Amino acid sequence: MKTIKLAVIPGDGIGHEVVPGALGILERLGEIHGGLKFEFEHFDYGCDHYLQHGDMMAPDGLERLSQNDAVFLGAVGDANKVPDHISLWGLLIKIRREFQQEINVRPAKVFEGIRSPLANPKDFDLMVVRENSEGEYSSVGGRMFHEEHEIAIQSSVFSKRATSQAMHYAFDLAASRGKMVTSATKSNGIYHAMPFWDDVFKEISSDYPDVSTTSEHIDALSASFVTRPERYDVIVASNLFGDILTDIGAAIMGSIGIAPSANLNLNGKYPSMFEPVHGSAPDIVGKGIANPVGQIWTAKMMLDHFGYTELGSKLLQAIEDTFREGIMTSDIGGSASTHEVTTSILDKLQ
Ligand code: NAI
Ligand code: MG
Repeated sequence: MKTIKLAVIPGDGIGHEVVPGALGILERLGEIHGGLKFEFEHFDYGCDHYLQHGDMMAPDGLERLSQNDAVFLGAVGDANKVPDHISLWGLLIKIRREFQQEINVRPAKVFEGIRSPLANPKDFDLMVVRENSEGEYSSVGGRMFHEEHEIAIQSSVFSKRATSQAMHYAFDLAASRGKMVTSATKSNGIYHAMPFWDDVFKEISSDYPDVSTTSEHIDALSASFVTRPERYDVIVASNLFGDILTDIGAAIMGSIGIAPSANLNLNGKYPSMFEPVHGSAPDIVGKGIANPVGQIWTAKMMLDHFGYTELGSKLLQAIEDTFREGIMTSDIGGSASTHEVTTSILDKLQ
């Protein structure tokens, strides 16, 4: 019997409404498999923890989380209690940084039966691999002078190590899927970093003769995500470009409520973290209508990560069947509750 130890952080807001159902689904999948068990360690980290203890997590929080095989997170943030920059940097971003989760992976695909803002979404099924540790999101730079003389300088940081790591990950992923990698570049405008990015892309691609490649400038690529998303398989992108593309990916699927993400630690020193793309959704909290699919699909990504790809496919199938039957929450055009969607997915797992 293999046991996967999960650190569970529902966090804030609808995190508490979508995480329990996803855990039930993981347990069911373990039973179906027969040789797999989940052990959950629950953590009450979040804004209420901050109000009680003055910190988003306990002082030994990272240490305790790191005793687990993965972190399964709901959402963080409740601006009525704690300013967002304190809550996010005190928990979510802290875990991503300290646990060296240098790759962020977010899929986007079309589901039959759900409302997409695209008139004709065709059959897109893509994965964005985002470098999650450096790039444009660096703290190198500063501000000086005052008033009309004030200047701000912000430098990007691109290392060969992290850039090639993201690209290798993208090519390995593409090799197991549609065998195509698109590089999000902007070497016609960004003078140093993006030609460097292109060079590394070219170099890494020569290791993967079976995977075809294209490079597209981020502006055109963003437009194509809206007009022809079915052209893409795996897209590799810097931190900023990946951030923007994945929001477009969530939007064209129909709702941020279904989008999942994985923050991966690749050196094996720390656990990876699996979380939906959405936040704590204070506007719908307590109404029982939060879409649970982002959290549940996140569980599928975790199963894939641990090598249980058959269970992962079963789960995705159950999500697709549920949508096909019209069982969905209001954000994607249905009228079902969180509980009804979760139960439908659970019932389809036999
Ligand atoms: P949000 O993702 O919480 O909500 C944006 C909109 O999408 C809202 O209208 C919400 O009702 C809807 N929505 C989100 N998830 C949904 C779901 N599962 N089902 C149905 N509708 C859903 O983003 P917002 O409002 O900008 O931020 C709210 C709080 O969440 C803030 O404190 C923010 O800092 C935090 N946040 C946390 C994130 C995380 O933990 N990864 C990511 C984004 C925001
Ligand atoms: Mg974003």
